[in-house]
Amino acid sequence: MGVLKHYKDLLPVTDATPNVNLEEGMTPLIFLPRVSARLGINLYGKFEGCNPSGSFKDRGMVLAVAKALEEGKRAIICASTGNTSASAAAYAASQGIPCFVLLPAGKVALGKLAQALMYGAKVIAVKGNFDRALELAREGADKTGCAMVNSVNPYRLIGQRSGAWEICDVLGKAPDWHAIPVGNAGNISAYWAGYNEYKKIGKINALPRMMGFQAEGAAPLVFNKPCPNPETIATAIRIGNPVSAHLARAAVSESNGEFNSVTDEQILEAQRILAAEGGVFAEPASCAPLAGLIKLKGQGKLPEGITVTMILTGNGLKDPDTAMSQVGRPIEINDTLEDLMKVLEGK
Ligand code: F0G
Repeated sequence: MGVLKHYKDLLPVTDATPNVNLEEGMTPLIFLPRVSARLGINLYGKFEGCNPSGSFKDRGMVLAVAKALEEGKRAIICASTGNTSASAAAYAASQGIPCFVLLPAGKVALGKLAQALMYGAKVIAVKGNFDRALELAREGADKTGCAMVNSVNPYRLIGQRSGAWEICDVLGKAPDWHAIPVGNAGNISAYWAGYNEYKKIGKINALPRMMGFQAEGAAPLVFNKPCPNPETIATAIRIGNPVSAHLARAAVSESNGEFNSVTDEQILEAQRILAAEGGVFAEPASCAPLAGLIKLKGQGKLPEGITVTMILTGNGLKDPDTAMSQVGRPIEINDTLEDLMKVLEGK
């Protein structure tokens, strides 16, 4: 039914709002028994890779595009590390409006680039990092009247609250901890607002601790200062100066949560564990929370038996290059039963 219909009463949707819908949302909340056992907790992964463009961005993009159309805007623009651009391009395509996306040149995972191009966006590779591309996109929007659909657009974060509502609808309560990767810091803020709204209307009694995880080479919220040259293999969160830093800090302090950092090695190890012990393939940035939980477990800082939801923000298929650099190659054989038997019998 899509996010706009499903949560109509909680969203700023009126009769004048166009019914934009790619059947986003209602993503699976997957219990992970083997990874839970490893950590001594009840661990659920919300697999946002099941959204139509393969990431959580669709939840907010559907509302941002609907409101842009309602306000008479006829083109959209964004800067992106990849997923926002894929999502914006998809919704623009569905509505037949132009979409301009600014990407940090050479730093976007292949699948995301393929998506933006296939959906027909005008793709602009900026020789600079995401933070600079975002500044340019804002100036471009101001000058042209294009709707800016980065998370500075308030409708993006309002739509993204739906993720928190779905988790509570499924669990019947909020988790004890909410673990989430943090880049431009919008999603952690949206989830916190979503949980608070559900508490206000009596759907849940208690709020989770918000645990935000960043890559060590791009961790401005952990180290409490902008990072001028962010670097990480998790290109989705390769961001040095998050626009929603103030909201994210408030979410963490109000919820008695924390920010923490993980290395690229820890991220890749978590990605492998999630796939090989969980059966879920998520992109590197999405695995920062699991890397963080493993780190905290190792430090004796992960309480036994708590319920933790982690947001698996994007699909692993978006970044095949990083995955293939971590795994072996297929075993090639001649087309004979003899060759096959050698493999099956482990010879
Ligand atoms: N995980 C993935 C897969 C992302 O694509 C992003 C952000 C995040 C986590 C962090 O979320 O920015 O709300 O803190 N991607 C943006 C983009 C920046 O352009 O696609 P955040």
